Amino acid sequence: MISIDPVNTEFVAEIGDVDLARLTDAVFAEIEAAFNRYAVLVFRHQPLTEGEQLDFARRFGELEVSIQPFVATPGGKRRIQTGFSDISNLDENGELLKDSDNRRLINLANQLWHTDSSFKRTPGKMSMLSAQHVVPSGGETEFADMRAAWDALPAERRHGLEHLVAEHDYFHSRKKVGLDPATITPERRALRPAVPQVFVRTHPASGRKSLVLASHITRIYGMDEADGRRLVDELMAYATQPQFVYTHRWAVDDVVLWDNRCTMHRGRPHDESLRRAMRRATVSDDGPTIPENWQPDRNHVDA
Ligand SMILES: [Fe+2]
Repeated sequence: MISIDPVNTEFVAEIGDVDLARLTDAVFAEIEAAFNRYAVLVFRHQPLTEGEQLDFARRFGELEVSIQPFVATPGGKRRIQTGFSDISNLDENGELLKDSDNRRLINLANQLWHTDSSFKRTPGKMSMLSAQHVVPSGGETEFADMRAAWDALPAERRHGLEHLVAEHDYFHSRKKVGLDPATITPERRALRPAVPQVFVRTHPASGRKSLVLASHITRIYGMDEADGRRLVDELMAYATQPQFVYTHRWAVDDVVLWDNRCTMHRGRPHDESLRRAMRRATVSDDGPTIPENWQPDRNHVDA
C-alpha cells in the first residue's frame, strides 16, 4: 500500500512508500486513483532514469510528441531524449542558454498561468516533471485547482459559461513574453494552428466540473473580442487566488505529476545564471474536447 498525505484538501497529496522505478499494476492503480482525486501528486526521492520516467508516464496513456516551432538545434541534438519536453535553462550541451536563444522565450511563457498543450486539438491529460537541478530560491511551480474555482463560483456567475468555446493559440502566449509576430511564418503557423476548446469541462473519473483557462486563450467564439478577453482575465484572476493555489518548492529527485484537465500551473522566476533542469513527460488526453467537425457560428465570429 502506498501512503497518501494530503498537502491540501482534495487537491495535492504527497505519495510515499513507493519506488516509481519498480511499479506493479496494483500500485499503479492506487496512484491513478489518487491522481483522479487530488489532481497533483508529489513524490520525493525518486531518482528516475529517463527510461524509467517515460515508462511511468506511459502507464497514464499515450506520450505526447513535443514540437517547438521556434527551436532548432544543430542536427536536432537534444539535452534529453525525445519524448520529453526540456524544462531547463540549458542547451543541448548542458550549458546555460544564451540570452538570444529562443528557448528562453519558451521558459518565460511557462511563467504564465497555463495548462499543457491546450493549444492542440487534443490537449494534455497528465504532465510529469522530474527535477535534476534546482535553484536555492525561486523557480517554484504553482498549481491552481480549477475544480475548486468552479465550485466556489457563485451560481449567477457560472451562468452561460458551460456553453462557451474558447480559441487557444500557442503563439498568443509566446507573443505576450516578447515573441516577434513577424517571425510567425506560414510554415510555423501551420505547425500550430489556433484550436477551439471547451470553457468548462467535466472530469471523466471524478465527475467534477472545472474551468478550462490558459494564457493561450485569444478569444471566446461568438463574443466581442474585448468582452471575451475581459471575461477570461477576470476568471484567470479569480481562479488563481491563494485559496486555490499550491506552491511546489523543488528538491532534486522530486517527481510531481498533475492533471491538466482540471488545473493550471506556472513556473516562477529565478536567477537565470543558475542551472535549473527538469524533464517533463506529457500524456495526451483521450481526444479533442470539441468535435473535429465543429465550426464556429459564422454569424458571430469576426474572423
Ligand atoms: Fe506547463
